[in-house]
Amino acid sequence: MFTDSHCHIYSEYYPNIEEAINNAVSNKVNRFLNNGCDRKTCEEVLKLIDIYPNMYGAIGIHPENVNDYKIDDLKFIEDNLNNKKVVAIGEIGLDYHYTKEDKDKQISLFEKELSLAEKYNIPVIIHSRDATLDTLNILKKYKVKGIIHSFSGSLETALEYIKMGYLLGVNGVITFKNAKIKDVFAKISLESIVLETDSPYLTPEPFRGHSNEPAHIIEIAKFISDLKGVSLESLAKITNNNLNKMFNFNVDN
Ligand code: NI
Repeated sequence: MFTDSHCHIYSEYYPNIEEAINNAVSNKVNRFLNNGCDRKTCEEVLKLIDIYPNMYGAIGIHPENVNDYKIDDLKFIEDNLNNKKVVAIGEIGLDYHYTKEDKDKQISLFEKELSLAEKYNIPVIIHSRDATLDTLNILKKYKVKGIIHSFSGSLETALEYIKMGYLLGVNGVITFKNAKIKDVFAKISLESIVLETDSPYLTPEPFRGHSNEPAHIIEIAKFISDLKGVSLESLAKITNNNLNKMFNFNVDN
């Protein structure tokens, strides 16, 4: 069985969440790390992890929401870190793809969230788009670890993140024709790789064009299994083990 290490399961995208989860389970995906992006989605993640035993939460303010968040939202995140099923702060990071104009605000928010992660010794889920250098330099200032979600950089950057203790998330993008990231993941050790869908985004082939769902982890798994020459069983075992070492999935206390 596989884990979807990065998804956005909210009622806004999934009118029938139960069905999406059941469909995932029938496709060998039985654990989910649901990521919030703002106050509203974090509140929903907290509700859902309470309902679904195999769903865990990451709560954080995504860089695209840098102009809307309130300081009180960070307090809300901090107050909920004691929830045993909240295993990470995320999705957080830097995104300079559309504009660099709010760069300073993004960095300030990112650093506030990293400080929280360091203070509570909880991993982070990092979103970094067109911002590699700043992301690396800022992460180096904090004693944190976690996942570089949707990793899309060079081999050199990959190795640097790995050296810093991060895992690299691979998703449906790798199944796209001519995806350059194939060559990079071909050279990265499986011990540093985790599978994710980023549902409802980044739908893998052959479902490209449709909304994504955690069940599609299996398409990404098949691709990586071919690329790395390992069985699906071994891939599931190794990637789950990577996650188990990084996150505290024990909730029985
Ligand atoms: Ni995401």
